[in-house]
Amino acid sequence: MKIGGSVITDKSKPFTLRKHVLNRIASEIAKAIAETKIRLILVHGGGSFGHFVASRFKNKLTTTSCIEIHEAMERLNRKVVSYLLKHGVKAIPIDTISLFVLKRKHVFKAFLEPIVNALNNDLVPVLYGNVVFDVAEGFSILSGDTIAPCLASKLGFENLFYAIDVDGVYKRYPPRSDDDLLEVLDLHKAKVGVGKIDVTGGMANKLIEIAKWIKGKKVKVILFNALKKNHVYMVLRKLK
Ligand SMILES: Nc1ncnc2c1ncn2[C@@H]1O[C@H](COP(=O)(O)OP(=O)(O)OP(=O)(O)O)[C@@H](O)[C@H]1O
Ligand SMILES: [Mg+2]
Repeated sequence: MKIGGSVITDKSKPFTLRKHVLNRIASEIAKAIAETKIRLILVHGGGSFGHFVASRFKNKLTTTSCIEIHEAMERLNRKVVSYLLKHGVKAIPIDTISLFVLKRKHVFKAFLEPIVNALNNDLVPVLYGNVVFDVAEGFSILSGDTIAPCLASKLGFENLFYAIDVDGVYKRYPPRSDDDLLEVLDLHKAKVGVGKIDVTGGMANKLIEIAKWIKGKKVKVILFNALKKNHVYMVLRKLK
């Protein structure tokens, strides 16, 4: 499950955690895990931490900006993990920069053994979008929107969930009515609009990455509104 930065932070205000939302989501995850055995990997986005710092540097990735982006993302990750632990989720943070190496912004190498071992030890790995090394460009940003479908594909998961701050993917954005919501995700019908601050391409890139990694695989993808109570729980329990 990719937990959107749009959900756990307020993307309109730098470094603003939505504590009550994060707390509720952590409790819903804990409840779902307590009730049923699920192999779960969590990936969170940058929200008003990573996206804010990266855009302050106008997306220029130098040693200085990368250190600052990484620091901001680690700070957000510590918060996410601490709320999960508080609710009894056996969360273990895994730093993206140690697992992935990119080449011209595309995943070139992925060292997934720590994740597999974490899962085999009943832990819930918590990854996050972050700066990583790029053999061609020095550094690149690897979005949580790429990490999630990449892991689902490479590790053979059956479900891929995106917790976001709107009800799903709309035919047009902003939507004019509820009828614009796509019941079944059809990438040809979705027309993306301007969203909030997002250095990794927002909704458009999310859909591109889903198509890229999931094409031809049997993976059920659900994008849902995690600002609404119980939705995280219901999705994990696969309830309507
Ligand atoms: N067709 C569309 N359907 C739904 N949302 C859309 C569409 N087009 C644009 N959006 C925007 O996409 C946003 C969600 O993507 P965004 O990248 O901001 O969130 P996120 O990925 O959860 O955040 P983060 O990147 O910090 O993890 C919505 O808030 C909405 O403003
Ligand atoms: Mg995004």
